[in-house]
Formats: sequence, C-alpha cells, structure tokens
Amino acid sequence: MSPTVTLTAKQPIEAQKRPDEANTRRVFVKSFGCQMNVYDSQRMTDLAATEGYAETSDMAEADLVVFNTCHIRERASEKLYSELGKAREIKDERAALGRATKLVVAGCVAQAEGREIIRRQSAVDVVVGPQNYHHLPALLESVRPVVDTDFAPDKFERLPAPVARGVSAFVTVQEGCDKFCAFCVVPYTRGAEVSRPSAKVLGEIERLAAQGVREFTLIGQNVNAYRDPQGVGLAALLRAAAKVPGVERLRYSTSHPTDMDDDLIAAHADLPALAPYLHLPVQSGSDRILKAMNRRHDVAAYLDIIARVRRANPDVAFSSDFIVGFPGETEADFEATLALVKEVGFASAYAFKYSERPGTPAADAPDQIPEAVKEERHARLFALLESQRLAFNHATVGRTLGVVFDKPGRHPGQLGGRSPYMQAVHVEAPAELLGRMAQVEIVAVWPNSLKGRLAGGSSY
Ligand code: SAH
Ligand code: SF4
Ligand code: F3S
Repeated sequence: MSPTVTLTAKQPIEAQKRPDEANTRRVFVKSFGCQMNVYDSQRMTDLAATEGYAETSDMAEADLVVFNTCHIRERASEKLYSELGKAREIKDERAALGRATKLVVAGCVAQAEGREIIRRQSAVDVVVGPQNYHHLPALLESVRPVVDTDFAPDKFERLPAPVARGVSAFVTVQEGCDKFCAFCVVPYTRGAEVSRPSAKVLGEIERLAAQGVREFTLIGQNVNAYRDPQGVGLAALLRAAAKVPGVERLRYSTSHPTDMDDDLIAAHADLPALAPYLHLPVQSGSDRILKAMNRRHDVAAYLDIIARVRRANPDVAFSSDFIVGFPGETEADFEATLALVKEVGFASAYAFKYSERPGTPAADAPDQIPEAVKEERHARLFALLESQRLAFNHATVGRTLGVVFDKPGRHPGQLGGRSPYMQAVHVEAPAELLGRMAQVEIVAVWPNSLKGRLAGGSSY
C-alpha cells in the first residue's frame, strides 16, 4: 500500500539546472500498451503538470522520463529494456551537462518485475505499478531507487482532474480482471475487478465534455463487468453518459462474452449515441481450446451473442481478438477458428501468436506449439481477417457516416477522423471542423483508410 522505500529529502534538481530553465521542467511519457495504458499515461502527464512539468515529445529535453509498459506478450516486455538502454545514454549525456533526469518505469512490466528492472538497468529511479502511479510526486523525491507495487486502493481519489486532449477521450470505468484466462497476465498486473462509482465517472465525462470532448470510450479490462457500488451497470452508465451535454458518441472496450447482458445489447438498439461497433474478443473457434484457455464460454454462446446483438441492431459491426498456437492447438482446432471467422464476418480484428507468459498456467503446459506452426497459422488467419476488413470497408462506400475529426489530414485542406466503425477517414474539409463530428459520404477505399466527402447540406 505504501512505497517500499522510506522517502527522504527532495533531490536538488533545481540546483543543477541552468537558471533560465529553472521553471520549465519537462516530462516525456511513452506508452507501450493498451487503451488503459494510454489513459494512465495521460493521467501521469496531468499529475506531472500539477508538479510543474510541461509535456515534451523529445526524450532528450525531459527532466522526467516515464515508460508506461505492457507485459501482455514477450515482445511487448522486451521493448522496455531496449528503450531503457537509450534512456540511460540520454541520462548520462544530460548529467555531463549538469542536468538531472529521473527515469520512471510504470505499467504492467513494473508490476510484474518490480525490483528486477532496477537490477537489469541501474539508471532507473522509480518502478511504479498501475495502481500506484498517483504516488509519483512522493516517489520522485526519493534519493534512492524506489519500487512501489503493493496495490493501492485509492488511485482515482488522489489523481488530479483529467485534461482534454482533443475531441476523443478514454475514461477508465473499471479496472482489473477476475477471469484468469490461462494465457493472460492482466489479472496479476492489474489486480481484481473494481468499478469506479458512476457519479465519479460521469463527473469526469462532464468535465471533459465541457472542454470540448465529443467522443468517449469507456474502458476497462472487462468493461461490461462494470457494476458500481450502487449497482449501476454499464448499460445504465452509457445511458447516463449520453445525456451529458456535449457527448455525441460513446464506445466501450473491452468486453468479455460472459458479461454481455440483455441491457447492454438493448442499448445498441435504443441509444443513438452508442457507436454500432462491438469489440468482443473470442480468442479461438474451438470449444476444446476455449476450455483449456479457461474462457468460460463456448463457440455457441459467442455466436448467440453476435446473433442477439444483430437482432437488436443489424448495423452493429464486430471486432475481436484471436490467439493462434495456444498449447495443444491442433490443425482441426485452428480450422474451427477460421470457420468461426467466416461465420461471423468481422469489420476488423487482431490475431496474436500465443506468447508464453511467466506465472500463467498455460506457460507450464507440456504441449507448446512450435514457432513455425504459430507463424503459419497466424499468416492464414491474418489473411482471412484482412480480406474481411477490406470487404467491410468496401461495403461502406456510398454510405453517409458520422465522422469525428480528430486530426489534420495528410495534405493541406484535409482533415482526418474516425467513422463509427473505427475506420480512418480522410476528407477535404474546413479547418474549423477539427474537433467536431460531421456527416461524410464515403467515396473510396485506400489500403488503410477511407476517402470521404462532406455530405451535401452538411448537418454539422
Ligand atoms: N480483456 C482485455 C484483454 C487484454 S489483452 C482487454 O481489456 O483488452 C488483449 C488481447 O491480447 C487478448 O484479448 C488476447 O487476444 C491477447 N493476449 C493476451 N495474452 C496473450 C498471450 N499470452 N499471448 C498472445 N496474446 C495474448
Ligand atoms: Fe486477460 Fe482473459 Fe482477463 Fe481479458 S478476460 S484481461 S484476456 S484474463
Ligand atoms: Fe498490456 Fe497491461 Fe494493458 S499488460 S495490454 S498494458 S493491462
């Protein structure tokens, strides 16, 4: 609950700075993980701002460097150590100029590996877990390397109010996971499922909407398991959020099939602000593998949810996550996954090669799949998903969709935005539409985005 090292006097960073820079400390934060990891990075940046740090995208000019890490697959974790090598060089160069740099490792690798990170890279000053980063101001005062990974229960009460960063925002409503899928580290790195009180979530949405945010994604590791202490579920929370002035579009991510209740499915029929898009990871199309994964649902249950959502709103498009090469997966199991994909038809989806994660049950399974087999199955699944994605994109040509413009386009006079189905759309549009939603007719498909034009007599 408290930092594992007793905190001591403040390090005299100011004394080491050139006088003209004394008041302009800078923070560089890099995210390696999921949407919640991005949200956490933003909250750490907000917190650093209250401590006088301005955000920078240049690590070399940062007095405070935060790597917000992901432990989900081996490759994600290993990225940290190569980044830390670079950060150490910058830290040494700055030190030679008399400028101190604090190096912080946050996120899920921090939670999983703790002090081991400092053992592997002694330039690290602070290791802080995802439930503890509100302690950062105190941790940064430590003169010795410090590790803070005992889950703290009060993060959201202690953090400063969030600051808008554009037209779209993530809001964490639920954290942690009690599902314990056999391959997954999240229940260990994020802890047990906890839902934030709906009044607090709505307060955050109101504040961000007042700053111009129009599109909100309510996020959680199992967001549809959301149930606050008063018994408010996710559907009720979405309905309340839709009433907040300024809110134009709502999304939620990521859902678990077993928590998909009738109320939430009904919201897809009768809540116009809710985007007709559902990310619902299934992982495998083989009942045998789903059981070995401890997924708590079978293929029939998954297909039944898809059918019920489609009955509620035929316009809903689906996205999913798949793992290929889970221990014991046979060619027949894999083909069952391909069959499920063909049956559902996804607008987009992620395929991952199974990665052994230390401490998870599947890592100890005897029947691990050779890398070459994983590689080959991944390529086949990816090709199928890619063909479905392109087919879906082509099917939107000629449709008029609400696009939330969140960035300037690639060329002058263009804006970039997102369709309700998360497609990137580029449109010739006046700059004043940036930060707003407008109706756009989709006119062409490019490999990774769509071309649109503002719909005649535009309703913005
Ligand atoms: N419910 C979570 C899932 C987090 S992990 C959420 O909020 O998104 C995201 C995806 O990573 C999972 O759905 C799964 O497909 C994949 N994944 C998790 N552990 C994995 C592992 N050990 N190897 C490969 N992929 C994994
Ligand atoms: Fe991981 Fe499964 Fe929990 Fe998702 S539901 S976070 S995949 S353990
Ligand atoms: Fe990665 Fe942690 Fe998110 S392991 S996927 S950053 S919850």
